[in-house]
Amino acid sequence: MGSRFPGWIDRLIPLIAVGLLVGGGYVGGAVYFGASPYALDVGYKPEQPIPFSHALHAGKLKMDCRFCHNTVEKAAMAAVPATATCGKCHAGLDNGIAVTTTVHANSPKLQLVRESLVTNKAIRWEKVHDLPDYAYFNHSAHVRRGVSCVSCHGRIDKMEVVEQVAPLSMAWCLECHRNPEPNLRPKELVTKLDWVSPTPQAELGKQLRDEYHITSKTNCSTCHR
Ligand code: HEC
Ligand code: HEC
Ligand code: HEC
Ligand code: HEC
Ligand code: HEC
Repeated sequence: MGSRFPGWIDRLIPLIAVGLLVGGGYVGGAVYFGASPYALDVGYKPEQPIPFSHALHAGKLKMDCRFCHNTVEKAAMAAVPATATCGKCHAGLDNGIAVTTTVHANSPKLQLVRESLVTNKAIRWEKVHDLPDYAYFNHSAHVRRGVSCVSCHGRIDKMEVVEQVAPLSMAWCLECHRNPEPNLRPKELVTKLDWVSPTPQAELGKQLRDEYHITSKTNCSTCHR
């Protein structure tokens, strides 16, 4: 992009725009969203088209999060799985694990899964967590630095229906960015939600912060680009 201003001003312009937009709409917006069922906040727990249970699949059956959310270590988005992933167990296909778990082959709760497998039309899951478009988030940047899903999503492996447990506000993001040490663990353990450090967390946090070269030099353009 040909630049008319020094770099730091260029970066500031969209932020000022954001400030004006949000500032200008704030009073009306707050009233509207406050009264709206679409306000995405702590406790937001939309009903899903299929009663899919994390407590069953990730908890009781101990399936790793990455079996379904398989982009979480590589990409910004954590990808909700395609129906084909469910089909490995629920379509009765003869492919490894499926053979032993073709349970509930005729369950009405799985009707939409079977339909989606035939029609190739995606299941329309309701989005639970949703930042405004002007805020940038990246899963891999966190997961590969040893920040566990549990730090931001809570005990998903105990939830029948996924619920938002953190405010996802800017203040919440910054609180951890300023002092990430209480939330660091060996990165291979990020999906073990019930894990607790055998060594004091303060020591471990310090050590991993060095090891993963976490600088926490966050500025506005880290999250607003
Ligand atoms: C068998 C596949 C499967 C496994 C295993 C699984 N998930 Fe999910 N996950 C889904 C599906 C399908 C959805 C969308 C429906 C819903 O929200 O329940 C979802 C939704 C979510 C959401 C909400 C997404 C949004 O819309 O904001 C989060 C957060 C999440 N999963 C985290 C996890 C974590 C953490 C684990 C591991 C402890 C995990 N999941 C294991 C399939 C799975
Ligand atoms: C690795 C195998 C496996 C995968 C993959 C899997 N499931 Fe399951 N699912 C099971 C098993 C096993 C049960 C039954 C557990 C029980 O009854 O104790 C089950 C039960 C269910 C049930 C309850 C059915 C009933 O009638 O009670 C629903 C709904 C369901 N799964 C949806 C899904 C969806 C949606 C996906 C994809 C996002 C998915 N499952 C992926 C193994 C799997
Ligand atoms: C540092 C906080 C943080 C961590 C750690 C984290 N998430 Fe998220 N997750 C978020 C935020 C914030 C969103 C909403 C992103 C958006 O709307 O742009 C989200 C959204 C999601 C979604 C919906 C799809 C998407 O990418 O928007 C899924 C699924 C999910 N997370 C699963 C996981 C799993 C599985 C893990 C662990 C392997 C994990 N998350 C770790 C904060 C986190
Ligand atoms: C529980 C702790 C925690 C929370 C909550 C958290 N982060 Fe982070 N975030 C980190 C750590 C640790 C890093 C790695 C920093 C480093 O490498 O110096 C990071 C890195 C990032 C990066 C990548 C920075 C880069 O230069 O690669 C982005 C973008 C980011 N966070 C955005 C967010 C946003 C947006 C939120 C809130 C919605 C958020 N984070 C909440 C701990 C957290
Ligand atoms: C770690 C990530 C992160 C950093 C760093 C960050 N922000 Fe934000 N910011 C967010 C998120 C997430 C939101 C959305 C919050 C919400 O929806 O409540 C946001 C919202 C905003 C808003 C909208 C109004 C508001 O308060 O909700 C403005 C303006 C803003 N940020 C400006 C800035 C400026 C200026 C800086 C640098 C001093 C900055 N941000 C640094 C994550 C960040």
